Amino acid sequence: MFDFKKYGIEMWPQDKIVAFRKALLDWYDEHKRDLPWRRTKDPYAIWVSEIMLQQTRVDTVKPYYERFLYHLPTIRDLAEAKEEVILKLWEGLGYYSRVRNMQKAAQQMVADFGGAFPKTYAEIASLKGIGPYTAGAIASIAFDLPEPAVDGNVMRVMSRLFEVDYDIGVPGNRKIFQALMEELIDPERPGDFNQALMDLGSDIEAPVNPRPEDSPVKEFSAAYRNGTMGKYPIKAPKKKPVPVAYQAFIIRNEKNEFLLEKNQQSNLLAGFWSFPLMEKGAFIPPQVSLFEVAEDGPQIDVKQAFSKAYPLKVEWQQDTFAPVQHVFSHRKWQIELLEGRALLGTLPPDRELQWVAVEDFHRYPFAKPQQKMWDSYLAGKQGLT
Ligand code: ADE
Repeated sequence: MFDFKKYGIEMWPQDKIVAFRKALLDWYDEHKRDLPWRRTKDPYAIWVSEIMLQQTRVDTVKPYYERFLYHLPTIRDLAEAKEEVILKLWEGLGYYSRVRNMQKAAQQMVADFGGAFPKTYAEIASLKGIGPYTAGAIASIAFDLPEPAVDGNVMRVMSRLFEVDYDIGVPGNRKIFQALMEELIDPERPGDFNQALMDLGSDIEAPVNPRPEDSPVKEFSAAYRNGTMGKYPIKAPKKKPVPVAYQAFIIRNEKNEFLLEKNQQSNLLAGFWSFPLMEKGAFIPPQVSLFEVAEDGPQIDVKQAFSKAYPLKVEWQQDTFAPVQHVFSHRKWQIELLEGRALLGTLPPDRELQWVAVEDFHRYPFAKPQQKMWDSYLAGKQGLT
């Protein structure tokens, strides 16, 4: 058995574990949320829900989940789908590597498992984009295997139950919570046990404003008993996202079409379409002073930088637009907008560029920053009329 003592944890005797399972599952049977992915045993559907739920709230996920399964009802459909289709289905959810990895995993299942979902924990965990949490969730919910699904919610609940003095944000500490769950998980109803903890962790045991009084397992909780709920979980504050300055170019032609570009870099938003975007730091001219940098970064002639990259003759407009900000987990994009009319020129063949009328925007996958840029553009235009 795991050496709980070494970590200052007192494991419960078996009768207490059994009583805990019963208290938690009785509560779940009465209060569980009615969620679309709880009405199926299809591992493919459960996998889709779990990946969507990794970084996104339940209410946001529901319509995306239904639409995804409507358009791609099987593993094979996902394996064979066009990139534009999967990005469109994920549009607005963020963290797009999730859906790209899902497609790779679906292709793995077609190649290695005859297009079926594998049924063991090790095989599930071998799929692209499936870590120990997701593998545990699918194995327990779809296949009734007694595998814990340890995420932030579970670590928070466990650290209060046992007063765990180890930071839940440190990857090396995950094994402590995994070991606790291996002792506690109900072997008869592992999927419900895991999901009961998810429900508990997202409401009564939420990170902010928990309501420990309402917890169905409060008598089991050391932190509740000792009045130390405020101390747990131990978690160091997150690092701030690094700001990155971008310039966006909103270029219209004489037919009132806008210039859109497909992002081909392997950065955050590869595959998505947006107004041409340049990272300002990437085109600092060599003569920029090293020591007198302005507060908002080196002063860069963005118009000149644009004409170097795009051989179009552009008449720049005077209108100003509110800058756009978008926060990813480690980056904060700050985007300035500049509008221009294209007068002459052909589009460079080494970039994927298209002139697109507003009526056709819906045909293109747009990520959040593009949606925000468009909103800022429209708001700026309205202010002018
Ligand atoms: N969050 C992650 N997986 C979940 C599930 N199966 N039910 C509710 N919330 C979840």
